[in-house]
Amino acid sequence: MAKFQAPKGVSEYFPDRSLYFEYVRNTLIDSARTSGYKLIELPVFEDTELFTRGVGESTDVVSKEMYTFEDRGGRSITLRPEGTAGVMRSVIEHNLDRGQLPVKVWYSGAFFRAERPQAGRYRQFYQVGIEAIGLNDPEIDVEVIAIAERAFKTLGLKNYQLEITSLGDVDTRQRYSKDLRAFISTLDLDEATVARAELNPLRLFDDKREEIKSAMASAPILLDYLSPESAAHFERVQNGLRALNIDFIVNNRMVRGLDYYTETAFEFSHRDLGAQSGIGGGGRYDGLMEQLGGQSLSGIGFGIGVDRTVLACEAEGVALPNSYFLDLFIVPLSPEAKASALALAEQLRGEGLSVDIAYGDRSLKGGMKAADKSGARFSVVLGDDELASSNLTLKDMRTGEGEAVTIASLGAHLRSAR
Ligand code: HAM
Repeated sequence: MAKFQAPKGVSEYFPDRSLYFEYVRNTLIDSARTSGYKLIELPVFEDTELFTRGVGESTDVVSKEMYTFEDRGGRSITLRPEGTAGVMRSVIEHNLDRGQLPVKVWYSGAFFRAERPQAGRYRQFYQVGIEAIGLNDPEIDVEVIAIAERAFKTLGLKNYQLEITSLGDVDTRQRYSKDLRAFISTLDLDEATVARAELNPLRLFDDKREEIKSAMASAPILLDYLSPESAAHFERVQNGLRALNIDFIVNNRMVRGLDYYTETAFEFSHRDLGAQSGIGGGGRYDGLMEQLGGQSLSGIGFGIGVDRTVLACEAEGVALPNSYFLDLFIVPLSPEAKASALALAEQLRGEGLSVDIAYGDRSLKGGMKAADKSGARFSVVLGDDELASSNLTLKDMRTGEGEAVTIASLGAHLRSAR
């Protein structure tokens, strides 16, 4: 019978590479949790209109990449292409914005965009994201960026870069858009591009075609139009990053792929990843909550691509911490030894150590092969002699060296090697 295959362009993680995925995701989540962010767990599908209104019709994400379908009740449903719109929907629906501000939440899960698959670009991909909603305080912008930076540092990544810009407030945008539209009207453009520019003239900075790129090189620059308030906000963000020794460059032509951004916007890219180098990005969104029927509150957040961060870790040869490996693999040599091995494993597991056993009545050779494959830090052979004497030889699977230990001191030994 023909074998099934996963749908085209999805990312999957299975052992042992899934350990890497777990490590990256957990490190990103820990960085958010240690800064006071709490989990928000949301549906992976929402009303289509949440995204058309929230993310914006001029974006590729909404106009070309949504997985939209009619459910059995005739409603138009879309698999979430990003997390911010859903978080805002939930915050408004459950009045989370009526209590202590900012509301600080993190999320982790699968997102869906019908893009052309290539290395680092998938149709189902994973993000860890955070949102801080309710206050327009530049120090929160700094905190949000610092959370991403700290996670990348903790992972041991080096070859990444942070770019920031300011997209200004409503007043800035109106004055700038007027001039940018006037500039665009002097260009000789096809109908589809004119229509895109009408929805959001900034989109043309994102166009990959050479002729548009060179035409836009002499376009007016948004940073030159910042209102005094926006300029002061951006200045405080930059000073805050410097105070935390976070390196960045100002990219005055950055265009984020989603329409809701205002004021601070940022992107992390990784130098070893080729075309899909964006490992994370985010920014402030002042009008989004109101746009979705809530009160007028500002917010800021990021989405980090877990898949691309895994690729970045692999490219830089980041090592998994010891805690991601099994502490011990036990090779029992008889049915009696197997029962004792299980009791010993359960005892050590209860002490917080990770332990596995060679099942299935194997020979010593077969058992040691299984120990090798398990990736465990240490192994022990449990035979009649060992059970009678309580003395074991603990084998370090990395060096191949053995050390004499008693069963009673085994746990302490394993813990000290972590
Ligand atoms: P985004 O820039 O569209 O922002 O996505 C964030 C990250 O998700 C990207 O930097 C990238 O690492 C990853 N990503 C996006 N698309 C794909 C794909 N097709 N395959 C693999 N990875 C991908 C957002 O989604 C915003 N919601 C972030 C945000 C939160 N802004 C404010 N709050």
